[in-house]
Amino acid sequence: MALDTTALNRQMTHFDGHDQIWLFGYGSLIWKADFPYLERRPAHIHGWSRRFWQGSHDHRGTPEAPGRVATLVRDPAALCHGMAYRITPEVLAPLDVREKNGYLREVVSLCFDDAAGGRTEGLIYLAGEENAAFLGDAPPDAIAEQIARAHGPSGPNRDYLLNLAEALRELEVEDPHVFDLARRVVDSIDEAAHP
Ligand code: BEZ
Repeated sequence: MALDTTALNRQMTHFDGHDQIWLFGYGSLIWKADFPYLERRPAHIHGWSRRFWQGSHDHRGTPEAPGRVATLVRDPAALCHGMAYRITPEVLAPLDVREKNGYLREVVSLCFDDAAGGRTEGLIYLAGEENAAFLGDAPPDAIAEQIARAHGPSGPNRDYLLNLAEALRELEVEDPHVFDLARRVVDSIDEAAHP
């Protein structure tokens, strides 16, 4: 698959004719919603786990030294908690460009976690294992070391991870993969400061 997924995402017709779409964020969209939205509500999706398995060549790393950012992997028994945004369709075009490094739009069923509850159909941006920037699993120390070192045009890779961990804590969401990596990265920063 081409590294730039913008054109593929523009071909998606599933929500054509809709004047509003629910977008589910599970990574940077939880703590950095730099797009206009009508409403945001905590939500979860079934059958997916959040993993730092996607390479970032254009935001949190470089082609020579990619960072690692979140994607979702199929996990039938799992729930992934995040934040859902009700947006108008024109918001998707800039997101397609921002997330062009391997992320494709995918339709999901999402369940709201607030008191009103309910479920609806929505969209996620998903970086599957067939995309050219996909890195996959690695020992936790190696993933943490890569994140601690990487830096790209959007800033240090560690900020992405630590901001996500903080946002999940605020949502009272348990995510052992994210919290374990965050602890390892914080330890490595402390060690570097106090060798
Ligand atoms: C997310 O937060 O859901 C997300 C952000 C960027 C790319 C893909 C997903």
